[in-house]
Amino acid sequence: MLALILLALLTGCQSTPASDSNRLYDHLGERDGISALTETLLLTIAADPRIADDFRGTDINRVHRMLTDFICVIADGPCNYTGDDMANVHRGLEISSTEFNALVEALVLSMEQRGIATGAQNRLLAKLAPLRRDIVDAPAQLSPELRQLILGDLDLYRYSAPRADQGL
Ligand code: HEM
Repeated sequence: MLALILLALLTGCQSTPASDSNRLYDHLGERDGISALTETLLLTIAADPRIADDFRGTDINRVHRMLTDFICVIADGPCNYTGDDMANVHRGLEISSTEFNALVEALVLSMEQRGIATGAQNRLLAKLAPLRRDIVDAPAQLSPELRQLILGDLDLYRYSAPRADQGL
């Protein structure tokens, strides 16, 4: 009898099953679902001439793993993203607003293809949208040596004066 009561108590205390959860991570199909989504996304990107070239020569396995963990974390999943922040990752790639939009379009196509519900799609897009300012045209960071070489040794005033004298 005691065992039955204990069992009933334990069952009652069980955490909410994943299907009842409102975590975005669950709606995206947990880590396996997100991994499948990012694979579809990378295939869609590869077929899109607007952005495919940006990814040529990159370690695509790493990008797949990192992107999966990144999305997992922002969807409140139990993952660990070990990559750099978005500004550093994309610095110097000169990503335009149009390219950013193309990638978002590729993501929406991929989510459709993976059968992700519209509500979950919108929730993921809302989390990614604020990253635009870090990713689009993240300015290249010059090494201190190069900065010193260019900005430290050149006297820009003296340089421009003769040009003005020559009427240029
Ligand atoms: C919300 C949008 C985006 C997110 C969340 C995102 C996220 C990421 C992540 C997590 C990585 C891997 C970082 C690492 O290896 O440590 C990555 C790499 C990369 N991303 Fe993005 N990205 C976004 C948009 C874009 C766009 C629009 C482009 C270009 C069209 C782009 C091009 C790249 C490239 C080329 C790499 C590889 C960099 C390298 O290995 O040197 N990303 N991105």
